[in-house]
Amino acid sequence: MHLEAQSFHLRPWQRGDEKSLIKNANNKRIWNNLRDYFPHPYTQEDAESWIHLQENAGKLNNFAIEKEGLAVGGIGLTPGTDIFSKNAEIGYWLGEDYWGQGIVSEAVALLVAYGFEELGFEKIFAGVFAPNIGSMRVLEKAGFVKEAILKKGVFKNGVFLDEHYYAIWKQ
Ligand SMILES: CC(C)(COP(=O)(O)OP(=O)(O)OC[C@H]1O[C@@H](n2cnc3c(N)ncnc32)[C@H](O)[C@@H]1OP(=O)(O)O)[C@@H](O)C(=O)NCCC(=O)NCCS
Repeated sequence: MHLEAQSFHLRPWQRGDEKSLIKNANNKRIWNNLRDYFPHPYTQEDAESWIHLQENAGKLNNFAIEKEGLAVGGIGLTPGTDIFSKNAEIGYWLGEDYWGQGIVSEAVALLVAYGFEELGFEKIFAGVFAPNIGSMRVLEKAGFVKEAILKKGVFKNGVFLDEHYYAIWKQ
């Protein structure tokens, strides 16, 4: 499954992406805005195990952002379970060299449409750490609304941060 935009596309992670994945993901400015399970430093072993995991995943929920033949970022949907099975959490990151070109705004819109139309979700949400204005803007541009601010919802880098909870619903 490929999702096409004008200047990039979303496609499955594949062997051969390791070098570009490490180059783009190994960045503290990216890690600062993600959960601690996102590796830092991002090693060869981390890249291999991520790609191995994706190659063996059943449904396609995680995509590489491919620009000029290189996997320069990632975007994915994590399905909820049990009573949350109609919800999915969206997550994304992009190599710093590519920031500010509108790539993730467009990628989020593409993945949200895919999540509603192909994967059957009814609600897609994201939790953004308070300092991350860029990510809030990305979500707002894609039609998400701020549903809540979860006070001290996050403990990252040794400090508490509010989590801004954004969501969009299938129309
Ligand atoms: C946040 C991130 C995904 C944005 O990706 P991007 O492709 O550069 O975003 P876009 O170019 O689509 O920008 C979207 C909007 O946000 C604005 N923006 C982006 N970064 C910004 C920043 N640091 N401060 C303020 N505004 C910012 C842009 O100006 C644009 O708004 P505009 O169209 O009104 O001018 C990227 O910076 C990143 O990977 N950050 C680290 C990981 C991360 O934060 N992931 C999300 C966790 S919730």
